[in-house]
Amino acid sequence: MSDDYRWWQKGVVYQVYPRSFMDAGGDGIGDLPGIAARLDHLVRLGVDAVWLSPIYPSPMADFGYDISDYRGIHPLFGDMADFDALLEKAHGLGLKLILDFVPNHSSDRHPWFLESRSSRDNPKRDWYIWHDPAPGGGPPNNWLASFGGGAWTFDEATGQYYYHAFLPEQPDLNWRNPEVRAAMFDVLRFWLDKGVDGFRVDVIWHLIKDDRFRDNPPNPDWHEGMRGYDRHVHRYTTDRPEVHEVVRAMRRVVDEYDDRVLIGEIYLPVGRLVTYYGEDLSGVQLPFNFHLLLTAWNAPDVADLIRDYEAALPPGGWPNWVLGNHDNHRIASRVGRSQARVAAMLLLTLRGTPTLYYGDEIGMRDVPIPPDRVQDPSEKGDPGIGVGRDPCRTPMQWEGGEGAGFTTGEPWLPIAADADRVNVAVEAGRPRSMLTLHKALLALRRREPALHVGAGSLLETEGPILAYTRAHGESRFLVVLNFGPDPAAFDPPDGPWTTVLSTALDRAGETIDGRLALRPDEGLLLRAG
Ligand code: NOJ
Repeated sequence: MSDDYRWWQKGVVYQVYPRSFMDAGGDGIGDLPGIAARLDHLVRLGVDAVWLSPIYPSPMADFGYDISDYRGIHPLFGDMADFDALLEKAHGLGLKLILDFVPNHSSDRHPWFLESRSSRDNPKRDWYIWHDPAPGGGPPNNWLASFGGGAWTFDEATGQYYYHAFLPEQPDLNWRNPEVRAAMFDVLRFWLDKGVDGFRVDVIWHLIKDDRFRDNPPNPDWHEGMRGYDRHVHRYTTDRPEVHEVVRAMRRVVDEYDDRVLIGEIYLPVGRLVTYYGEDLSGVQLPFNFHLLLTAWNAPDVADLIRDYEAALPPGGWPNWVLGNHDNHRIASRVGRSQARVAAMLLLTLRGTPTLYYGDEIGMRDVPIPPDRVQDPSEKGDPGIGVGRDPCRTPMQWEGGEGAGFTTGEPWLPIAADADRVNVAVEAGRPRSMLTLHKALLALRRREPALHVGAGSLLETEGPILAYTRAHGESRFLVVLNFGPDPAAFDPPDGPWTTVLSTALDRAGETIDGRLALRPDEGLLLRAG
C-alpha cells in the first residue's frame, strides 16, 4: 500500500532560493513574507515539501552559507515571527518545510569563531581546525579551497592557520570535538521543536578531515578551464571514514522527533554516495543524487546511470533524483527548452523522490550576468570558466512587466530578458506550457501509486530512446522518452498501451498496439490496457 510509505518517499520536494523567490519588502531581495504569499503557487503546482536555502543571520559572503547565528533569521528575510507564520501557513496548506542546515562551517563572524581566534587557550579554540605553519613556514599542507586559493588562512595574532573548505569567511568547524557536536545538535532540536519537517544538510561529506593532515594527491584529469580546486583529488578533506559516525549521530537527533527527514548534500560517485544511507539505513534518508546534473544528456548514459544507481542502493534505501539547484546550470539551459520537457517527465516519473528547483517548472534559463553585477564568490574565485552560480539564482518570474512580479525595487540579480513570456501568470493560462506540463505530471504522480511508490524497471532500448515501466498492484505505466531532435520509434512490450500524457500535452487516449512513434524531443507516458 502506498500508505506504508513516508511523506518524503511519496512526495516531491521543491527548492526555494529565498533571495530570489518573492520580495514582499521591496528591497530587491526575496523574503519570508514573500514566500508565504506565494505558497499557493506551490499548492497549485502540486509539490509536497519546500526546502529553503539558508535564511539565518549571515554576512552573506556566500549568500547565507556563512552563518553567524544558527538560531535566528536574517533581517533581510524578516524575523522569527515571519518564520513562525510561514511554517504555520505551510503546514496549514499541507506542505512540509525543510530547512538548510550548514554544519561544516560557520561565518568568521560567528561568536564561536571570534572566541576561537581570540587566543590559543580560549575554550573554543578547538571548535575550529587550527594548525601550526609547516616546519619551513607557510600553510600546514596543500589543501585547496573550493572557491579558489589555499584552504588555510593565517591568523597573525595567534600565529596559526585555520582551515576553510570554502571562503576564508567560512571557517570549518571541528566535528571531532564533542562540544561542537552537542552545540550543533541543539541547533537541530531548536528548529525541530518549532516543527520543521527536516533538514537538507550542506556538504555533509566534508564534515571530517584527515586527522594526520596528509596532502591531497594531484588530479591527473585536471586541465585548463577546470576550477583550481579540482587540481587535487580531495582524498583527505572529504568522505573520510569517520564521517559516517557523525551522520549517524545527527540522524539519531532527528529521530528523537516523529517523521522528520535528513537530506544530505553529497557530490560523490554513485558507489560512494550510497554509503551515506549508512549501515542498516542509519545515515541520512536521502543522500541527494545529483547524477542527472552531471551525466551527459543522452539516452544510453542516462540508462546506465539509472541502472547503476538502482543496483548500488542498499536494501530498503529510497532513491532520489535532482535536476537543478542553486549551484548548477539550469536544466533548460543545459539541455535546451524542448529536452527540458523530456527531463521534467523523467524527473517526475523515475522511482524515487524528486527535487524540483524553483523556476524550472516554468522553464527558466540561466540569465547572463554583466561583469559589474557578479555576486557569486565562486565566479569571483575562478572567473570566466562558467562556474558562476548567479545565472541560476535570478528572480522568479511571476508575471510580465518590470520586476516580474518578484519585486517593486531593484532586483539583486538581473531578471531574465524573456520574463514577459516565461512566467507563471502567462504559463498558467496556456494549455501546453511548461507549467501546465509540470502540473499534469505532478497531479498524475500524486494520483497513481505506481508513479509515486511503484517498482521501476528499465527496458532494453536503442538510439535516443529511454524507456521504463512503473508498476504497483494491478496498475502499470510505461514511460518512453526521445532524447533526440528527430522522430524515433519504440516497440513496447506486452501491449496494448494507452497514451496518458505527452510532453507536448496533446496526445491522450491513443491505443498503441505495436510500434510506438515518437516525435522529436517527445516523452510519452502510457498506461497498460
Ligand atoms: C553547498 C551549497 O549548496 C553552496 O551554495 C555553498 O556555497 C557551499 N555548500 C558552501 O556552504
